[in-house]
Amino acid sequence: MSQKFTTKNPSKPTVGVLCSGGGSNLQVLIDRARTGELGGEIRWVVSNNGDAFALERARNAGIEAIHASAKSLGSLEAVEAKMLELIDRDQIKVLVLAGYMKAIPVSVIHRLNGRVLNIHPALLPAFGGVGMYGHFVHEAVLASGAMWTGVTIHLVTEKYDEGPIVAQRVVAVYPGDTPESLGARVLAMEHDTLWREVRTILERP
Ligand code: GRF
Repeated sequence: MSQKFTTKNPSKPTVGVLCSGGGSNLQVLIDRARTGELGGEIRWVVSNNGDAFALERARNAGIEAIHASAKSLGSLEAVEAKMLELIDRDQIKVLVLAGYMKAIPVSVIHRLNGRVLNIHPALLPAFGGVGMYGHFVHEAVLASGAMWTGVTIHLVTEKYDEGPIVAQRVVAVYPGDTPESLGARVLAMEHDTLWREVRTILERP
């Protein structure tokens, strides 16, 4: 089946996005790209999960949606090669990990040299590291009794969740919060934060 993609604008810097799940952060990027506020064009969305709603969001927006996993492509090496091919093909300026649940290949980090962004739903280095994702993060925040949590945007390096932080925004923890209520408030802050940091990198010469 042939797919139609939106017209490519060669004068705009290019963005690639990796997602594993619902893609609500991706949707904000799509919407802000459409209004011109992002200052760049999303060329493709790659997911390790063929059922990710994020891929559907991409297709609905006329953006190339690619399922790339060891299962779908045959090996982890093939996934790595696919990512590098897409980055080179579209001269990707910024790669955004918007809820991507897999480690990305070191070669991809090197190829983009400081232009891979990740979003984490807490104030790193607190509540980060292996196993700290999704509701586990908000459960740990509530269990700790912390009064504040938030959003971190950081550059991706070879060290998981430890790359240089480019933005943090604080979210209050309320008495009676559940992981769901807190998670929803943090996610709303993510939606207002990620695209701004993507824009900042896109604006750089
Ligand atoms: C967000 O909470 C993000 O911080 C984390 O994964 C979640 C993705 O949510 N890395 P969505 O797919 O953008 O809705």
